[in-house]
Amino acid sequence: MRHAKNLKETSPNVAYNINRSKGKTIFEYFCTGIDHMFMQIIFATNNENKIREIRNILGDSFTLLSLSDINMKEDIPENEPTLEGNALHKARFIYDAVKMNVFADDTGLEIEALGGLPGVNSARFAGENKDSQANIEKVLSMLGTGKNRNAKFRTVIALIFNGKEYLFEGIVTGTIINDKRGKEGFGYDPVFVPEGKNLTFAEMELDEKNTISHRARAFEKLKSFLSRHYMPDNKEVI
Ligand code: IMP
Repeated sequence: MRHAKNLKETSPNVAYNINRSKGKTIFEYFCTGIDHMFMQIIFATNNENKIREIRNILGDSFTLLSLSDINMKEDIPENEPTLEGNALHKARFIYDAVKMNVFADDTGLEIEALGGLPGVNSARFAGENKDSQANIEKVLSMLGTGKNRNAKFRTVIALIFNGKEYLFEGIVTGTIINDKRGKEGFGYDPVFVPEGKNLTFAEMELDEKNTISHRARAFEKLKSFLSRHYMPDNKEVI
């Protein structure tokens, strides 16, 4: 119970460090059955950039665990035909394994003139090696000189919270330009100009992108849900 006292007197980040210093993963620690003050939740990803970004959004009331924190090193397959299906599959995969609160995300670029492509296949649109440049070239060549350049990024988050499933969606609409611009970001950022802006996502500072992005919007909804449904003293308020 010495650890539990430490946890209650410190912020979640410090608690995490104390925990690490005892030579256990945080998952092993909580599996010992010791009470904790802060809600622990798994983000079903091994992408460190996403973990950092989301830790920032969720703030101090939640202890966010990555897949490597629970010793899951392998990627979970994403073979479902929709973003919702993939996000749910990943969340269920982890929930079935560890029975802890968990969420997973999936994102796609949906282009109106292409009937919603590349959509759920955004990462592998031009092939299995997930080459962003090749993906962009394929999109631009399919669009050709077409006038309708409307597109949107859509992020879906699947949450399993106390055994129940929830979906959250974040969308940013915009247009696909003819030539790449900018060096920031990743994926389709160099050809996507969000509505109401003149810059592509790849020409923006990360902070600016993060205030309007599909991912930020979806994660703000998740944060708001978690804040409404959970209190730091471990009492549910549903
Ligand atoms: P994921 O579900 O976040 O892994 O995203 C799947 C794919 O969608 C990525 O490999 C990118 O090609 C694309 N994508 C997702 N988010 C973004 C973004 O913010 N900008 C540009 N492309 C993105």
